[in-house]
Amino acid sequence: MDISYKKNTISKEVLKNFLIQNDKFFITPLSEGLCILDYAEKIYRNAEIFEAYCNNELVGILCMYANNKLAGYAYITLIMVIPNFRNRKIASVLMNNAVNYAKENGFFRIGLNVSPYNKTAIKLYENNGFKFKKIYMEKSMKNPSGGGEKKRENNEYSFFCSLII
Ligand SMILES: CC(C)(COP(=O)(O)OP(=O)(O)OC[C@H]1O[C@@H](n2cnc3c(N)ncnc32)[C@H](O)[C@@H]1OP(=O)(O)O)[C@@H](O)C(=O)NCCC(=O)NCCS
Repeated sequence: MDISYKKNTISKEVLKNFLIQNDKFFITPLSEGLCILDYAEKIYRNAEIFEAYCNNELVGILCMYANNKLAGYAYITLIMVIPNFRNRKIASVLMNNAVNYAKENGFFRIGLNVSPYNKTAIKLYENNGFKFKKIYMEKSMKNPSGGGEKKRENNEYSFFCSLII
């Protein structure tokens, strides 16, 4: 099976649909913590998007903010490979492409957050040299607009990991 890798070729519509369709495959769905359409807009405007395709179908994506050149610090906000294409190193190649891009553009550190329950993602990050730095904790608050509390049990804390490049 031939996988081709591209960067920043995706349209905003395809990005939005990809996130909506694959939301349920995250340990904690994105939609439980944010508005997917707003998030897609933010990524589309600000992130470098590394894409994996099989026969023109988008099968994997990695989104990295690499705007803070002064600090030399980039941040991976999203990585996702669709279920039928997992365990074929697609995420590893996307990660490698992102790391190379960051290196070539003068960044010297990449950060990301991962849930302690996400064993596959932790394995992927460790394989690629990321080290645990600290635990990020949060407390869910009642939504003042009356919308109720978002259900985010799996997300009450996450590991912050960092890779020196
Ligand atoms: C995390 C994710 C991107 C990995 O994609 P992928 O293309 O399958 O990743 P790779 O094939 O490059 O590597 C996966 C590694 O995890 C390992 N792995 C797979 N299932 C595992 C499990 N249940 N426990 C531990 N490790 C596991 C694989 O063996 C592989 O390691 P190896 O290369 O040493 O054999 C994919 O599972 C995914 O999209 N998950 C849902 C979205 C998500 O959780 N994103 C991360 C949010 S922080």
